[in-house]
Amino acid sequence: MTGRKPIIAANWKMHHDHFAAIQFAQKFSYLLEKTDYDAVDIVICPPFTDLRSLQTTLEADEIPVALGAQNCHWEKDGAFTGEVSPSMLAKLNVRYVIVGHSERREVFGETDEIVNRKVRSVLNHGLIPIVCVGETLEEHEAGATVGKVKGQIAEAFAGVNPDDVVTCVVAYEPIWAIGTGHNATPDDAQETISVIRGAVSNAAGEDAAQAVRIQYGGSVKPGNISALMAMPDIDGALVGGASLDPEDLARIVRF
Ligand code: PGA
Repeated sequence: MTGRKPIIAANWKMHHDHFAAIQFAQKFSYLLEKTDYDAVDIVICPPFTDLRSLQTTLEADEIPVALGAQNCHWEKDGAFTGEVSPSMLAKLNVRYVIVGHSERREVFGETDEIVNRKVRSVLNHGLIPIVCVGETLEEHEAGATVGKVKGQIAEAFAGVNPDDVVTCVVAYEPIWAIGTGHNATPDDAQETISVIRGAVSNAAGEDAAQAVRIQYGGSVKPGNISALMAMPDIDGALVGGASLDPEDLARIVRF
């Protein structure tokens, strides 16, 4: 890793209500020292209903953990029942938004075009997208991983100013590794992530590619994080299941 600050993001998915979120933040902050926060950017992406409570707790207790959302709409406001806009998130001091998680793509039909609209809107509102890419098990077995992630990166960053791409985070999450307990090996993750960095270079130039932080996601645990983080192109992790436990998340942050 060359000059890029590691970033560990917790993706709680549809877990932990706002009471649980407050308790989590308090327990988690007791487990960490200032040196941990200096070494790693930490992001918690809870359900929308937790954001306000978590914001208040983090600010009141001066816990240097950034808030993230798991999704948003691309419009600022409008007749979009059930949706939440990036400007609403910005008002709650949300700094990051996960865009194009495979569960959004597979369960809610998000296309590469929708992902691109969201990436541009998130950036226009001064927030940082965590852009998720990754192949299915079938694509993995068919040797189609490289083509899949290259296409997803090209489409996600189409029309985005390279100066904005510099600030972005990308998460490589092989779908077959999510929630299965079967993580990609560090070498395989490294190989695909270096392809992703090349695709960012094609989309936005080499400076942007060297600046973008790329996470690995998919069954990250305290026991496998350090081998992943030892890889030159892996700058962090997007953590689902193991991020629900404050002790596990703290151990992952201290890889
Ligand atoms: P997992 O989820 O860590 O539970 O595999 C990762 C993710 O979906 O972001």
